[in-house]
Amino acid sequence: TVSALGGLALGYALGSIPFGLILTRFAGLGDVRAIGSGNIGATNVLRTGRKGLAAATLLGDALKGTAAVLIAKNLGEGPALAAGLGAFLGHLFPVWLGFKGGKGVATFIGVLLAFSPPALGIFAIIWLGLAFALKYSSLAALAASAATPVVLWALGAPAQALLFLLMGVLLWWKHAPNIRRLASGTEGRIGQKG
Ligand code: G3P
Repeated sequence: TVSALGGLALGYALGSIPFGLILTRFAGLGDVRAIGSGNIGATNVLRTGRKGLAAATLLGDALKGTAAVLIAKNLGEGPALAAGLGAFLGHLFPVWLGFKGGKGVATFIGVLLAFSPPALGIFAIIWLGLAFALKYSSLAALAASAATPVVLWALGAPAQALLFLLMGVLLWWKHAPNIRRLASGTEGRIGQKG
């Protein structure tokens, strides 16, 4: 329908704003894609040593997803789901960066906040628990994102479960280099400079 397409477009427009790239550039740190993993996300911004900028990146990349869904919710559940997908796709494949965007963890979190705070709570427990215990940002996000569709299904939200299953598959696919590094024991730990 037209409003679902509108939701998708609104989501994409907001989702494609690369906060990590913009914030580090304004802070005079140059191009964050030249350091660490080369990613534009909060984990890699943290490798500049600037914790505040990393936190702001996490917040910006998350809340753009939250905002897209909350705005589209005025049009209904279908447009809201489309806006969440659009925001996630915008972050992963921003036209402004030649479709080379981020890995989606923050935006996944932001979209989840808009749909299901209880499911986000469970995500956060898994994510923070593993991140603190093992110090691998990627592994924590991979585990928490895999659990999310199951949690949403159990909470009685099958359409949301399907959306987050699709987003989770894309998130895992984008983390292929991280998965290879985790398997070979060469993945960088949280906060380790790149
Ligand atoms: O899951 C966190 C992810 O974004 C890892 O980022 O920079 O270590 O590839 P990075």
